[in-house]
Amino acid sequence: MNIHRLEKMWLTFGLVMLGVFLLVLGIGTFARGMAPPTSEHHHSIDPEKVMETPPFDKPGLEKIGDNEYNAYMVALAFGFNPEKMEVPAGATIHFQVTSPDVVHGFQIPGTNVNMMVVPGQVNHLSYTFKKPGEYLIICNEYCGVGHQFMATTIIVK
Ligand code: CUA
Repeated sequence: MNIHRLEKMWLTFGLVMLGVFLLVLGIGTFARGMAPPTSEHHHSIDPEKVMETPPFDKPGLEKIGDNEYNAYMVALAFGFNPEKMEVPAGATIHFQVTSPDVVHGFQIPGTNVNMMVVPGQVNHLSYTFKKPGEYLIICNEYCGVGHQFMATTIIVK
C-alpha cells in the first residue's frame, strides 16, 4: 500500500514537472515569436538541390537597377561560386548566399560585410562598393581541410 502511494506521488510529481517544462517551452516559443524581427532574414532552400535551384543553378550577378545588383553565390567546400565578379565603382550588391554542405563564413576584409552561410538558408547582406579595387571574399568559419583556400574576388572599377 505504502509503495503504491509513493509511486503515485512520483507519477504525479513527474506529470507536474512535465507540465511545467511544456509551459516554459511554450512561453519561450511565444516570446521568440513576439521578438522584433532582426535585420537579417532568411529564405529556406533544400541544401541537396542548391545546384539545380534557380537562381543558384547559375551563380553570378543580376543587374536589378542603376548600378545595383543581386549576387547569387554558392559557398561550398572549398570555394565560392562564381569565382570572380566585376562591378562598376559605386555599385550596390545584394549578396544572396547559400551552402550545399556545411556552415561557411562570408567576409570581405576592409568592409563590414561579415555573415554566416548556413545550409538550408539563403543568407542576405547588402553593400555599396564606393572605392575601386580588388575585394577578397573569404570564409571565416572553419569548414574543413580546404578552409584556408576558400576565397573569391570582386573587382570594382
Ligand atoms: Cu568554408 Cu571555411
